[in-house]
Amino acid sequence: MTLKAIEIFHDVEEKDIELLSDLEEAASRFEWIPEDRLSKIIDLPEQDIEYRLDRLNKFELVERGIAKYRGYRILPPGFDLLALNSLVQRDVLEAFGIALGIGKEADIYDAITPEEKRVAVKFNRLGLTFTRLKEKRSYRPKHGWIDASKKAARREFEVLEKIYPDVEVPEPIAFDRHVLVTGLIEGEELEEVAEIDYPEPVLDEILRNVKESYKLGIIHGDLSEHNVIIKPNGEVLIIDWPQWEPVTHPEADDLLRRDVKSILSFFRRKFQIERELETVLEEFEK
Ligand SMILES: Nc1ncnc2c1ncn2[C@@H]1O[C@H](COP(=O)(O)OP(=O)(O)OP(=O)(O)O)[C@@H](O)[C@H]1O
Ligand SMILES: [Mg+2]
Repeated sequence: MTLKAIEIFHDVEEKDIELLSDLEEAASRFEWIPEDRLSKIIDLPEQDIEYRLDRLNKFELVERGIAKYRGYRILPPGFDLLALNSLVQRDVLEAFGIALGIGKEADIYDAITPEEKRVAVKFNRLGLTFTRLKEKRSYRPKHGWIDASKKAARREFEVLEKIYPDVEVPEPIAFDRHVLVTGLIEGEELEEVAEIDYPEPVLDEILRNVKESYKLGIIHGDLSEHNVIIKPNGEVLIIDWPQWEPVTHPEADDLLRRDVKSILSFFRRKFQIERELETVLEEFEK
């Protein structure tokens, strides 16, 4: 599956991007940008506005509302395109590749930088529900999805900058809008790894990283076997940090407890390793 914005990236013209950016700016004020406001918002002759909106509509970057919502709004691929365009302009990205992971809350694609470094591009989709139309996925945006998704990208970038490389996490490279770029990692989610020859040291290594990030003042907040990657050489990486909280958070103790508990439960269930939660928690230091 390719991403709509990637598919059409080279067919889109500069003027399309300009119009899309104008709509983006207005999107913070209107869920649907009323038709009669378009000429105020967009700095183009009326005929051109119609022509461009028609193009964007055909590309499925914007949607035309009818009846109660006479007007336009940007669809998720429109925001994807704006973010990709700006990452290309900023010399962060040069070419896009294939899907690495398509999930409920994010789509992850690989890409390369102008220096030919391989990176992962995470498109946040918080608060989007999607339906499958033929082979394609079509998102039904809920109002506010873009703000929630932008916040997630910014927060995850922020935390990676704080803890990389002391904690084993992907290298932070850049973010733009709802999109986060990190170093590409290889490996499998812990949950999917069929067998681990020596599970004890893997558990120890995960806990060592959780302690390291705690020492740096950070709690993951959504730790589980889905957010731990086992590299081909057996080393671990901890991913997916947008919901992190500082150790000064009023519920920090509960968040840490939940994170550690979820890992211990997985190792108990899958590998019959018994570790006492309270004993492990006592080993944490700020
Ligand atoms: N830097 C990366 N390099 C390679 N693959 C990655 C990278 N980051 C994430 N992935 C892949 O994408 C998957 C989902 O990533 P992540 O956990 O960060 O997103 P998520 O918000 O949980 O999305 P989902 O809703 O899909 O679970 C990971 O399990 C992994 O397979
Ligand atoms: Mg995840």
